[in-house]
Amino acid sequence: MVEQHVPEPHSGHVPVLFQEVMDALRPAPGGRYVDGTLGAGGHAAGLLAASAPDGRLLGLDRDPAAIAYAAARLAPFGARAILVVASLGDLAGVAAAHGFDAVDGIVFDLGLSSRQLDDAARGFSFQHDGPLDMRFDTRSGATAADLINNLDAEELADIFFRYGEEQQSRRIARLIVTHRPLHTTAELATLIAREARRSGRPGRHPATKVFQALRIAVNGELDEIARGLRGAVERLAPGGRLAIISFHSLEDRLVKEFMRESSRDCVCPPQQPVCTCGAQPALRLVSRKAIKATDEEIAANTRSRSARLRVAERIGN
Ligand SMILES: C[S@@+](CC[C@H](N)C(=O)[O-])C[C@H]1O[C@@H](n2cnc3c(N)ncnc32)[C@H](O)[C@@H]1O
Repeated sequence: MVEQHVPEPHSGHVPVLFQEVMDALRPAPGGRYVDGTLGAGGHAAGLLAASAPDGRLLGLDRDPAAIAYAAARLAPFGARAILVVASLGDLAGVAAAHGFDAVDGIVFDLGLSSRQLDDAARGFSFQHDGPLDMRFDTRSGATAADLINNLDAEELADIFFRYGEEQQSRRIARLIVTHRPLHTTAELATLIAREARRSGRPGRHPATKVFQALRIAVNGELDEIARGLRGAVERLAPGGRLAIISFHSLEDRLVKEFMRESSRDCVCPPQQPVCTCGAQPALRLVSRKAIKATDEEIAANTRSRSARLRVAERIGN
């Protein structure tokens, strides 16, 4: 285990699975690293500190406010940190444009940050009343209110089912269509809490899955992750490592499937007795099972409870 300096909690944000990500990526002097979801810059600060004096890090985030915040935090690392407002889906191109062609380690810590969740104006949380926005990139694109107020019931139900695995997707979609326009998170959360049948995990707000589904749809999250994973494999140097933290089953399934497919040395149909495909695996799985937070971390940071870290290494010469 590589002992790292754990960054100070910064405005309440403690990076999830911090030591596990450092152990997976093994940052070292002279290394090149990419953080595809910079957020508050916690993992990035760890990678930069451990790769001193000359390691470099390219940090991407779709949220201009996250980049501004991380830029202030990472200022002590000077030109070693290059920060760009971009989606991880565009990682391959952005990395190439900044000379990160053969990267030693890439981390994605998916989803949203506690700063975004706690900011009522961003509209991510049913616990804070704010506009139904939910865009990571606040500069353009349709908001959650645009979807809620313009899609038909079938389209909304499809979003709630596919991206929230919501069992009452049709019922909730019909409710929304009957009661719209809806403009705020409180209006939507209250409607669902009042009218939808009680189901799901006890203690969980009945609007949890709908909010997750809307956020994924607004930001095209699963498509971006899929593009980001492909881009990461393109940019990793042989022996370079990919560490992905996901927070719900849709993300984790996508990451797991991608890593499994990329590490197979034969993609022939299973009934075929002899391999004819000649496929070359691009990745080697470093951890067969997802790495989870320790009880100690969960006690200190409840958000880490659902975190799953998967690690793979680039094969090649
Ligand atoms: C959980 S936070 C990352 C926290 C970070 N690891 C830290 O230590 O502070 C997730 C971040 O990913 C960003 N994000 C979400 N989807 C993205 C995407 N497709 N491309 C780039 N950034 C994205 C969010 O804006 C958010 O800032």
